[in-house]
Amino acid sequence: MKQLKVKTAFLKKIKSDVFLLGLDSSYLANSARSGQFLHVKADDKTTILRRPLSIHKIEKNLVYILFRVRGRGTRLLANAKKGDIFDVIGPLGNGFCIPRPTPHAQHILVAGGMGAAPLVFLAEELAKNKNSKLKNKNLVLLGAKSKKEVLAESEFKKSGFEIHVATDDGSRGCKGSVVDLLKKNLSAMRSLLNVNIYACGPKEMFYEIKKVLEKYPKVQAQVSFEQFMGCGLGICYGCVIGTKEGYKKVCKDGPVFDLKII
Ligand SMILES: Cc1cc2nc3c(=O)[nH]c(=O)nc-3n(C[C@H](O)[C@H](O)[C@H](O)COP(=O)(O)OP(=O)(O)OC[C@H]3O[C@@H](n4cnc5c(N)ncnc54)[C@H](O)[C@@H]3O)c2cc1C
Ligand code: FES
Repeated sequence: MKQLKVKTAFLKKIKSDVFLLGLDSSYLANSARSGQFLHVKADDKTTILRRPLSIHKIEKNLVYILFRVRGRGTRLLANAKKGDIFDVIGPLGNGFCIPRPTPHAQHILVAGGMGAAPLVFLAEELAKNKNSKLKNKNLVLLGAKSKKEVLAESEFKKSGFEIHVATDDGSRGCKGSVVDLLKKNLSAMRSLLNVNIYACGPKEMFYEIKKVLEKYPKVQAQVSFEQFMGCGLGICYGCVIGTKEGYKKVCKDGPVFDLKII
């Protein structure tokens, strides 16, 4: 982990309030793992705290962030110009744990809204790590409010994932939540021995997944938490959550946790 000044190489509006930002840093590109995040200082004058943002994907020396404009910090990032410099600390946190590749492993990514952001990098790592005799197709389940808000489909396709969509209004895919979609997919599977779930989205979604998995105790699940953060470095205790193993700092012990301890 380092504190760096990184140059903006790319900024594109993806949806009305979602942007893709590419930062030029060979150090970050070579050291980051999926599920880790960057702590970005949006500017020096009006925002005191850094903003935690997941690493979305890496291409050569470029580290990409996919973000939704929520408030002042993300609005400043969305107004960046090519060549602007950001002060960034990263890569931070414990990312996803990728199991040893086996022919029967099956990976299911579950994204609630912006939760798709870190799962693209994970999909790329899983695709690189896959067993050449892999029997099952890896799946990504994308949840969104409506068809206009479905994110990162082409990236998941590039990594060979089969895409299933659930929308709240039924305008695309199944009408309902992405957890309903997960339930449907799990119940249709013949064997659940080597199934690994990786989820990112709102906290409520994790509790729903936990309820679903009560029926499938052999299925492993990792979840990436979004939490308000102060330092991002494990010092301020601003991001602590209660778990079955005691209090954990999302910035240092997470953001990715085994769902069993949540
Ligand atoms: C590990 C981690 C990774 C993240 N990765 C991404 C990502 O890849 N893409 C992305 O769009 N967002 C991501 N987030 C959320 C992102 O950090 C916040 O959206 C951002 O900090 C908001 O800053 P702001 O200045 O724009 O908004 P603020 O002005 O700080 O807040 C605006 C609104 O957003 C809410 N908010 C702010 N921060 C959070 C938060 N952490 N959790 C829930 N609500 C919040 C506030 O309650 C307020 O209503 C991540 C958060 C964490 C902890
Ligand atoms: S944000 Fe300071 S300890 Fe996690």
